[in-house]
Amino acid sequence: MYKPKNFYKIIRQSFLVIVTVCFSVTFITTAYADDSANVVRGGLLYDKWYGITNGDIPSGTNPAYPDTSKKKGKDSWRCKECHGWDYQGNKGAYGNKSNSHFTNYKGIAGAMGADTGKIMNLLKDKNHNYTDKHMTATDFMDLALFVSKGQVDVPKYIGLNKAVKGDAKQGEIYYNTICVNCHGFDGKKIKDMPNLGKVAQDNPWETLHKIRMGQPGEKMPALYALPIQVSVDIVAHALSLPRE
Ligand code: HEC
Ligand code: HEC
Repeated sequence: MYKPKNFYKIIRQSFLVIVTVCFSVTFITTAYADDSANVVRGGLLYDKWYGITNGDIPSGTNPAYPDTSKKKGKDSWRCKECHGWDYQGNKGAYGNKSNSHFTNYKGIAGAMGADTGKIMNLLKDKNHNYTDKHMTATDFMDLALFVSKGQVDVPKYIGLNKAVKGDAKQGEIYYNTICVNCHGFDGKKIKDMPNLGKVAQDNPWETLHKIRMGQPGEKMPALYALPIQVSVDIVAHALSLPRE
């Protein structure tokens, strides 16, 4: 059989090329695999997981919830109830003893960037008591993705004094094009929620979380994929909407 002089060299080089191509394809697809939808679903679970899951809904109070705090039953199982809308726990808006949501637990901000496997395990520990009866592996994974990747450093944008570092004029443009069809120019159009102006004034942190993640079980969009400043500017505008 005829073989070119450098037969083995050609084989070796072709093999190297094939390996490199395979490796690059795997790398590129991994690097670009987009999990934004799961991060956002995790944000909705953080808000009120049992509103959008199919598992058991707890009837009693979470054993990890302090006896001395004010909530009972289902509410005591919401992530936000122990860790806050600003993710700062006792260092944030819920850290004030007079707040009806006070638990004195720390926030989740320290777990930004943490390993998702570790976060999933921690949700089954005695501080949490979630089980496979409550949520599926996907639910736990989405929660972990939100904790690790979906949080922003909220105090950078909204102070403890509720000062919002956003441009209300710019926010009005966003609001009047993105939110207005559902909420109306005055934020009063949806009748089964308080006026948006009141929601934003009472809790700008919750408003920011919901603008970025949406509202559990509702058709409201999530602005997570847009630059954070867009959402912050919208909060700044929402503050100016009528309370009554
Ligand atoms: C009943 C109160 C309670 C609820 C509800 C709760 N947690 Fe926690 N969480 C805790 C406590 C207590 C700790 C431990 C804090 C410490 O180490 O001081 C903790 C710790 C954490 C941490 C680690 C933070 C860090 O920096 O080490 C993460 C992440 C976390 N929780 C996520 C969640 C998520 C996600 C949910 C909702 C699925 C949730 N938690 C619901 C009480 C709660
Ligand atoms: C497709 C319609 C739709 C769009 C667009 C929409 N929302 Fe909503 N939004 C809703 C619905 C429905 C609810 C749930 C009302 C309820 O709780 O009954 C809601 C709830 C909220 C809440 C929580 C209110 C509460 O009391 O829990 C906030 C805050 C909010 N929207 C702000 C916004 C902002 C700001 C925008 C624009 C960035 C926006 N929404 C865009 C439909 C929409």
